[in-house]
Amino acid sequence: MKDLLTLAELTKEEIASIIERAITLKGLKDKPLAGKTLGMIFEKASTRTRVSFEAAMYQLGGYAIFLNQSDSQVGRGEPVKDTARVMSSYVDGVVIRTFGHEMIEEFAEYASVPVINGLTDKHHPCQVLADVLTMVEKKGSGVDGLKGLKVVWLGDGNNMANSWIEAASRLPFKLVLACPEGYQPDEDIVKRSVAEGGEVELCSSVKDALKDADVINTDVWASMGWEDESEKRVRALEAYQLNSENLSYAKPDAMVLHCLPAHRGEEITEDVIEGKNSSVWEQAANRLHVQKAILEKLLS
Ligand code: CP
Ligand code: NVA
Repeated sequence: MKDLLTLAELTKEEIASIIERAITLKGLKDKPLAGKTLGMIFEKASTRTRVSFEAAMYQLGGYAIFLNQSDSQVGRGEPVKDTARVMSSYVDGVVIRTFGHEMIEEFAEYASVPVINGLTDKHHPCQVLADVLTMVEKKGSGVDGLKGLKVVWLGDGNNMANSWIEAASRLPFKLVLACPEGYQPDEDIVKRSVAEGGEVELCSSVKDALKDADVINTDVWASMGWEDESEKRVRALEAYQLNSENLSYAKPDAMVLHCLPAHRGEEITEDVIEGKNSSVWEQAANRLHVQKAILEKLLS
């Protein structure tokens, strides 16, 4: 494992070891990354991913250098393959948040240091690892404890949905996605996950999808880069809101997840995100611990 670009690159054992190590690291103050430097190239906004990676590097004894679109020459059109080779001679790993997934693939091809996907239009693997950690802590014991769980994705079939579909091909839960026409997840990712043993189903009824759910996930209706479509998306996705009525179809102790930032009153209501089923704050906190496990695995 050199890079972390998508979850499909990981085996079940690699996912399990990241989750177990994240849990162990919660209680340790070790500094395995002393003297290591992480480069961070972010072409989109971020609170959680940026701060958790920077804090993780600091707490593990290393250092992080953050570049936004206007700070670096990448934003002015310097070729990705040039940046990748130059950055590799200065830092021990690079986290990238960008638009097209191809950019990060090209960067990884030319970089001689590990490249970590901090979100592209197509995938968000670090977030889904934190989600799995949250699920393991609340619903399972180890990743095998996820067997038999019904996990539901409600809303836009976006980058987060794609990474969940890839997770389902490695882990023993059932994933049901309820997304409206035109907002379905990537067809090839669904096909590949199913071919690799993932129990993944697309369901056209919100009520049927949510029936007896153990975990319900949702995310914004207009991801970064799609803001111009906001109004159209609100109309198309209205019935997919995670509100108390939709939540009532799930098991009483169903866990509600949202990667944040949330738009209350759109994809999720205030009472649900602040309610007893919500695990979103533990989920967000787990970003730090998962980031540490990923950094330790790739950089040390
Ligand atoms: N969930 C997540 O990736 O949040 P940020 O956009 O704040 O990094
Ligand atoms: N799907 C969202 C996730 C934000 C963390 C987006 O890409 O904007």
